Formats: sequence, C-alpha cells, structure tokens
Amino acid sequence: MNPLGMSSAARASHPVDTEGDFQLATWQSYIKGLRNFWRTEAYQAVVSTVDGTLQPTELERRYADLAAYRLYAWLERYSQQMKYYGRRGLVDLACDQKQHCSELLDEAKNKGPGRVEIDADFEVPSYVRESHTHQHVGGVWSNPAAAFAYEASTSGFSFALGESSAPMRVYADAASALANMAQHPVGKVIDIGCAIGESTRALKAAFPDAEVLGVDVCAAAVLLAHLRANERGEKIDFSQRAAEDLHVPSESVDLIASHWLYHEMPVKAIRAALGEAHRALRKGGLFMAFDMHLVPGGNIGQWLHWGYAKRNNEPFAVGFSQMDLRQELKNLGFCDIEIKLALPEMPPQDDEMPARRTHYLTLITCRKSAT
Ligand SMILES: C[S@@+](CC[C@H](N)C(=O)[O-])C[C@H]1O[C@@H](n2cnc3c(N)ncnc32)[C@H](O)[C@@H]1O
Repeated sequence: MNPLGMSSAARASHPVDTEGDFQLATWQSYIKGLRNFWRTEAYQAVVSTVDGTLQPTELERRYADLAAYRLYAWLERYSQQMKYYGRRGLVDLACDQKQHCSELLDEAKNKGPGRVEIDADFEVPSYVRESHTHQHVGGVWSNPAAAFAYEASTSGFSFALGESSAPMRVYADAASALANMAQHPVGKVIDIGCAIGESTRALKAAFPDAEVLGVDVCAAAVLLAHLRANERGEKIDFSQRAAEDLHVPSESVDLIASHWLYHEMPVKAIRAALGEAHRALRKGGLFMAFDMHLVPGGNIGQWLHWGYAKRNNEPFAVGFSQMDLRQELKNLGFCDIEIKLALPEMPPQDDEMPARRTHYLTLITCRKSAT
C-alpha cells in the first residue's frame, strides 16, 4: 500500500504508517535486510556445517555453541524484537496511539456493508493469552492497538515468498480449485483464525456471491478486519468466535478454510476444531487449511523448525507438524484427503535442504463424506 496514494481518511485509519514515514520506513527496511541475511547467508552457514544424519535433539546438543548457529538463532529471535519494540518498533508505535486505535475501531463498529459481532462474555483461550505469539507481548488479543501493530508487521513482507499478498492468492486459488474439482456449490464460507481479515477478503474475492464470515478469538483483530473490509466496500461479516465452537447450525456451511491458524493451537484444541468443522459442514462440504505442517529438509529442517517455534514463541507449531492429520481427518469422516507442500511452488524433494529458511506452507484439503 502506498500512503502517498491514500486519501487523507484512509491515511488517518493507518496509525502505523510504515511507508509514508521516512524514518520508520528506513528502520523497518533495515530490519528486513537483517532478516533476509538471517534466512539466506546465516542459514546457509549453519546447514552447510552441521551433520544432517543426527536427530534434531542431537543436532541441538552438538551445535548449541557453533558460532554460525548462535548468529542464526540470535538474528531469528532479536530481529523480530527490533521490528516490534523501541522507538520505531511497530508494537510500541501502535501502543503509543492506543486511544486513536480504539476510536477507529469503535467508529467502524456500526458501519456496513458487513457486520461485526463481539461477544462481551467471550473468554480468549488460555493458550492464546499465555503464548505472546511471534514475541508480541500480550499478543493481538490484549488491546486495540495490537491489531494495528499486527497489520503493520504483516503488510509488505511474507516469510513464505517475500510478498505479503502471494500466500493469499495461493489460498484463494486453492479454494476455488477445490470447489471446482468437488463440484460443490459454495454459498456459505467461514474463514477461521481470520485476524485482520486479509485471508477472509481473499476468499470473498474467490466466491463473490457467497456469504463469507471471518472468525477469530481476538476482538481487536475482528474489529479491524471489519473496518478494512468496509473501507473497501466489501460485504463480509466478522465475529469473535473460536474454531472449537463456531456457533453455527450443524450441516450449514459449504467451505471452512483457514490460513495460518492451526500451528498456533495445541493438539487438543486442533482436534476440537477439526471436529467442529466436520459438524458445521454440509454433507459433501469442503475443508481447507493452509498452514505450516510438512517440514522439508530432513533432520536439519526439523531441528530449525523446532528452534524457530521456541525462539519466535510459537509453542504449538511442533505439535501440529507431528500430527497424523490424514488419519485424524479420516477418523472424523472426511474423504478425498490431500496434504501437500504448496508454497513456494517448487518445494524441495524429500530430505533435500531448502536454499533459504522459509516457512513452507502445506495445503490440506478434504471433503465431508456425502453419505
Ligand atoms: C497467524 S494468524 C493468521 C491470520 C490470518 N488468517 C492471516 O493469514 O493473515 C492466526 C490467527 O488465529 C487466531 N486464533 C488462534 N486460535 C484460534 C482459535 N482457537 N479460534 C479462532 N482463531 C484463533 C489468532 O488470534 C490469530 O489472529
């Protein structure tokens, strides 16, 4: 987004202006450079040195003091903190404007075309409250400014491809392809774990005539999703709900999709959410998840994925990668299950090491049995 091309109203609704503010843009671009160094040269220095025949726990034990690994691990953890905190940190900058952020969300509440629903009695799950996911202290759930910080931190750069809209395009295209292949009419869609609604808007673009609902446990995120959809004149509804309890009648939804959700949930909650999706889907209805599940790169890939989960406060990412999803989905009554690496388009084969540290995204698709 180029703020110079924004109307003054649109600019006012972006309290953390990562492109229009030169000093902020320069600092954040320096951090992007650091992170790029981390995921290329620092990563390559590690993977070209270590012994890939060792198991992940042994790799950690053997190489904990290797200078290349210490640099890699330091950059992984602290470049993220530099991005969020300090004078030009996105979380601190948003928090300085809490009042303004809160007013923006409040003003948008009753405007359309879409509707938003916040549940005053909703209890944010403890696994969300206690994780400080992505090292964002208090996470996205804790205050209105946090959602704007999340938005600023995800715009412009995706770990998966270097361009934030790229995974969304793949997500929307995969949903359309799934519906076409299954020849299932899509009238009602739920995007679970929608955060600020980018993934939900991608689904609306794929199914413009469908009723589309985005749900997330974080109130501020849901409100910001509503604000952004309305600014674009898109009729999408958002609601504060959990994947484990969607509050919709049984067999009433045609497509339940999620973009980067399950790796942030513990296995027990994932199982509850999969069961809930099965309950909510119509017979023959479609399920899709786009997430970090398969981990390429053999033992080294696993080791670095475990380290990433620890260093970036994503404590459930490992549990999700180890689930036997095919079996879990089959047990619930899903069929036509496909689980494959989906992004970048040319994933490495088997144990081959990826050329750079990338979150490979797995596309998981299936269908509720029609009988
Ligand atoms: C990494 S974000 C992904 C957001 C969005 N789909 C995207 O790709 O931009 C994961 C989101 O899942 C939400 N979340 C975590 N657990 C959830 C649950 N049990 N039910 C619904 N949302 C949940 C978090 O609040 C967070 O906003």
